[in-house]
Amino acid sequence: MQSFILKDSMAQNKSIHGQWSSRWTFILAAAGSAVGLGNIWKFPYIAGENGGGAFVLFYLLCVIMIGMPILIAEIMLGRRGRQNPINTFAYLAQQSKQHRAWRWLGVSCVTAGFLVLTYYSVIAGWALDYTVKSAMSSFTHASSSAISQLFTALLANAPMLLFWHTVFMLAVIVVVGYGVQKGLERAVCWLFPLMGLILLILVGYAMNSGAFEQGIAFLFNPDFSKLTPNSMLIALGHACFTLSIGLGGMMAYGAYLPKKTSIIQAAGIIALLDTIIALVAGLAIFPIVFANDLAVNSGPGLIFQTLPIAFGAMPYGSFFATLFFIMLVFAAFTSAISITEPAVAWLMEKYHMHRFHAVWLITGIAWFVGIGTVLSFNYWENVKLFGLTFFGLLDYLTANIMLPLNAALIAIFSGWCLRRQIIHEELKTPVTWLIRAWQFATRYLVPTAVGIVMLNFLGII
Ligand code: PHE
Repeated sequence: MQSFILKDSMAQNKSIHGQWSSRWTFILAAAGSAVGLGNIWKFPYIAGENGGGAFVLFYLLCVIMIGMPILIAEIMLGRRGRQNPINTFAYLAQQSKQHRAWRWLGVSCVTAGFLVLTYYSVIAGWALDYTVKSAMSSFTHASSSAISQLFTALLANAPMLLFWHTVFMLAVIVVVGYGVQKGLERAVCWLFPLMGLILLILVGYAMNSGAFEQGIAFLFNPDFSKLTPNSMLIALGHACFTLSIGLGGMMAYGAYLPKKTSIIQAAGIIALLDTIIALVAGLAIFPIVFANDLAVNSGPGLIFQTLPIAFGAMPYGSFFATLFFIMLVFAAFTSAISITEPAVAWLMEKYHMHRFHAVWLITGIAWFVGIGTVLSFNYWENVKLFGLTFFGLLDYLTANIMLPLNAALIAIFSGWCLRRQIIHEELKTPVTWLIRAWQFATRYLVPTAVGIVMLNFLGII
């Protein structure tokens, strides 16, 4: 009976959700999911907090050794399952004669994605607020303390944060509500290339800002004494976060991928684009930070507190600032829609809900939980658990704990449990050593590396 239900729903899903119209729209959508606040807001500030060079190197290592194989695995599982991550694990476990408990890995992925959405929308709201501030020339000729004050005032203003959080969630509802082709595709095809263009203009400015070499040195000269077990865990977590793996987003997008597309090639392009954009964002940001004697380790406020100082001082600064924050909103948006999709697909498939109803329900609950993040920066600023605010705890728990653990389990599932035949059918490539390398990575490399970083963090090794 169970088997009948799973297969039956699999056959139907193509018609429920639709499919990507081509390989390139999938690649754009998946790259749009990967490139987000993680690249432009989070990567620079955690690189700044964790000492630059060595952290960046370890992060790149994690992207190649752990991120890439899991990205391939997720897209593969998604396309084979053609359902939401929970049903996909249940279906594939059954096909491979494995225990039903694997569906809980799907539950863990969807839950992690949902939790990320709750705070992602709040931070995206900061970018929305800064887009308006930039357009109104709020930074022009302002002193650094006045600009810093603008950021502090925004964080203290809970109704304002709530307003922007609500605006962002409403935009997500509209796009995800229209489904794969009408909503998601149309949005990313426009937003992603535009974002690349704006970023390049900013790097052009940074190159002429006078501190480009210092920026490069900070990002690429490793000082291994600065690499602590905690920063290694953060680098690992961020490699998962930035590639949108370990929370079902890529699996959900893979479920709408046409059969012919080469998964290995697509994953390679996605990871490359994502890495280039993070590094380019760093190259746009750090030279400006150094040229203006700003603090590299100013945390989540880095781009909001420091960049506007540079924007305020440069010619046509309001224009560049507005472009920059529009870009950040775009980047966040194409990621947010992909975090919403797995839970929405699950409600549609499990309860036969209409897409719009499912989207309203998921984003409604996420919006409500997001209020906790809004309050973390003002009324609940001093309410802490393990030294972290509600937002800090959610971020740490999802990015640094749930994502790497999910990634390791996905590796174990696809490397050890999945039927060989499925792997060969899905990953078809003339370059056979690529499949062997992927198998080695999922079987041994990923579980061992995640295990070592986690045990090292816990002080056990
Ligand atoms: N990869 C996105 C970023 O870097 C965040 C994200 C995580 C998006 C998980 C979707 C799923 O900002």
